[in-house]
Amino acid sequence: MISAQVQTAAYLFASILFILSLGGLSSQESAKRGVIYGIIGMAIAILSTVFGENVEGYVYILIAFLVASVIGIIVARKVEMTSMPELVAILHSFVGLAAVLVGYGSYLDEHTIQLTGADRTIHLVEIFIGVFIGAITFTGSIIAWGKLQGTIRSKPLLYPGRHVVNIILVLIAIAMGVMFGRADGTEAMMELYIMTAIALFIGVMLVMAIGGADMPVVVSMLNSYSGWAAAAAGFMLGNDLLIVTGALVGSSGAILSIIMCEAMNRSFLSVIFGGFGEVAQGNTVIEGEVTAATHEEVAEMLQEAESVVIVPGYGMAVAKAQYPIFDLVEKLRNKGKSVRFAIHPVAGRLPGHMNVLLAEANVPYDIVLEMDEINPDLPDTDLVMVIGANDIVNPGAQDDASSPIYGMPVIEVWKAKKVIVMKRSMAAGYAGVENPLFYKENTDMLYGDAKATVDQLNANLLK
Ligand code: TAP
Repeated sequence: MISAQVQTAAYLFASILFILSLGGLSSQESAKRGVIYGIIGMAIAILSTVFGENVEGYVYILIAFLVASVIGIIVARKVEMTSMPELVAILHSFVGLAAVLVGYGSYLDEHTIQLTGADRTIHLVEIFIGVFIGAITFTGSIIAWGKLQGTIRSKPLLYPGRHVVNIILVLIAIAMGVMFGRADGTEAMMELYIMTAIALFIGVMLVMAIGGADMPVVVSMLNSYSGWAAAAAGFMLGNDLLIVTGALVGSSGAILSIIMCEAMNRSFLSVIFGGFGEVAQGNTVIEGEVTAATHEEVAEMLQEAESVVIVPGYGMAVAKAQYPIFDLVEKLRNKGKSVRFAIHPVAGRLPGHMNVLLAEANVPYDIVLEMDEINPDLPDTDLVMVIGANDIVNPGAQDDASSPIYGMPVIEVWKAKKVIVMKRSMAAGYAGVENPLFYKENTDMLYGDAKATVDQLNANLLK
C-alpha cells in the first residue's frame, strides 16, 4: 500500500512519461523510445493506482488484469498492420464504454449520494458529460470499426433533416441534464437512461453519415473523443492522472484530425457533419486507352532510368511488398541511380502507415520524401513506380470538379516521363473513384500482386 503523497508523485512522473512518449512518437527515429516511455508510464500508472489507498478486491483486479492481458497479447500479435485502424477503433469503443460505466457507478455510489450543494452539482455535471461523450464514443467507434472492416457499407447514410433531428436530440439531452442536476439521491436514473440512449444514437448516426476517404479523420476524431471520455472519467473518479492522460489523448487526437483534414483539403466541420461520398461519382468520361507492360519491359525501363520515384500505397501493405522493394531499391542504387520514395499523408489505412512499413524493411529515411517535397521534382523524373496505390495518385482530384476527391492534394505522378502502375486489376481504391491516370499515354499498368511482381522484377534485373 502506498500513501497518497507517493501516489501523487508517481502520477506526476507517469504524466511526464506520457508527454515524452507523445513527443517521441512524432518522428520515426524516436518512435520506439516514445513507445517505451509510454509502457513505463502506464505500468507506473496502473501499479500506483492499484496499490493506492482505499483499494479493495485485489482478487477481482488480478483476474481482470490477467484475462485482459492475455486478450491484449493475443490480439496485438495477430493483428495485421493493415487492420490496425480497426483495432484502434474498437479499443476507442472500450474507452467510451468504460466512461459510461464509471458514470453510472459514480452516480449510484454512496459518496455521491451524500454530497451536497455545489460539490454535488459539479459532480453530477461531470457524470452527465462523461456518460454523454462516452456513449457517443462507444457506438461511434463500433460503427467506425464495422465500416473499416467492411461489415457495414462505407457509403454515407444520410436522411433529410438529420441535422435538425440531431439538434433536437441534443436539446432533449440538455433538458435531461437540467433535471438530472436537480434530482436528489439517485432519483434521476430515467433521465440518465434517456440521455444515454440519445448519445448512443448520435454516435451511430454521426459515423454512419461519414463515408469513403473521410474515414481516417473519423478514426482520429474518435481517438480524440475517447481521450475526453477518459478525462471525464478522471473527473468523476477524482483521478488526476486520468484527467491529464485523457486531455493529452483528447488534444493530440484533435490536432491529428485537423492535420489530416488539411492533408486531404477537407474542412474539419464538413467531415464531422458527414455526407462525403454522396456526391455524384465523377461523371466526366475518361479519355484514352489503358496499356499494359510486361515484367521484362518494366525491368528494361528500370535499367534505363536515371531517376526513379516509388509511390507506395495500401496494396503494398497488403502484399507485404516492402521487403522485395527494398532489395530492388538497393540494386538500383548500386547501379548509381537516384531512387526515392514519395509518401502521401493518407497513403494506406492509417497515419504514417507507409513510413512504418518502409522503416521495417530498412529503407533509409533520407530517401523517403513527403508529397510536397517530391511533387516539384516529378517533371524531371524518368520513371515513377506506383505500387498498390490508387486514390493518392488520381489526377481527377485536381482537374475533375465532379470527382468526390476533388481538392484532395495528390502526388502528381503523371508529370513524370513514364509511370508504371502496379496493381492486380483496374479496380478502384478506397474512395471508390475511377482513376484517369491509368488511361494516360505515359502510363502503363503492370498487373499482379505487388510482392510477386516486385519479386519478378528483381529476378529480371539479375539477368
Ligand atoms: P487505395 O486508393 O485504397 O488503392 C490501393 C490499391 O491497391 C487498390 O486500388 C488495389 O487495386 C491495390 N491492391 C490491393 N491489394 C493489392 C495487392 N496485393 N497487390 C497489388 N495491388 C493491390 O490506396 P492508397 O492509394 O494508399 O490511398 C489510400 C486511401 O485510403 C485514400 O482514399 C485514403 O483516404 C484512405 N484511407 C486512408 C487512411 C490513412 S490515415 N492513411 C485510413 C483509412 C482510409 P487492385 O484491387 O486492382 O489490386
